[in-house]
Amino acid sequence: MPNSGYTYVCPFDELEDGVPRRFEVDGVPFALVHAEEEVFAIRDVCSHSAVALSEGEVDGCTIECWLHASRFDLRTGKPLDPPARIAVPVYPVRIEDAAVYVRLVPESGR
Ligand code: FES
Repeated sequence: MPNSGYTYVCPFDELEDGVPRRFEVDGVPFALVHAEEEVFAIRDVCSHSAVALSEGEVDGCTIECWLHASRFDLRTGKPLDPPARIAVPVYPVRIEDAAVYVRLVPESGR
C-alpha cells in the first residue's frame, strides 16, 4: 500500500479475537484489537495515566484500563467511565491480502 499513509503491521491471523496486541511504529505505541469482526487500533497509552491499554480486558467494542477500570470505546477512543475523561487516539485500519495496515494519524471529528 505505497504512499497511502498506511503502514504494514502484521498478518491478520496473528491477531486473536478479543486479545489486544501491542505494536510500535515510528515511536508510536498502539494496540491492535480484533473484536466484533473488526480490527481496531488505539494508542497504547491510557489518557488518565501512562499505562498500557493493551494489558486490559476487551469486552465487545471496548477495552478496559487495568489500573482504574475506565473503559474506552475502540471505535472512537472515548472513555465510557471515570476516572479517564479524555479520549485516546484511534487510528484507521485496513486489511488487505490477509495483512493488517494502520495509519497513525488521529481520526478527525472527535
Ligand atoms: S490509568 Fe487508566 S483509568 Fe487510570
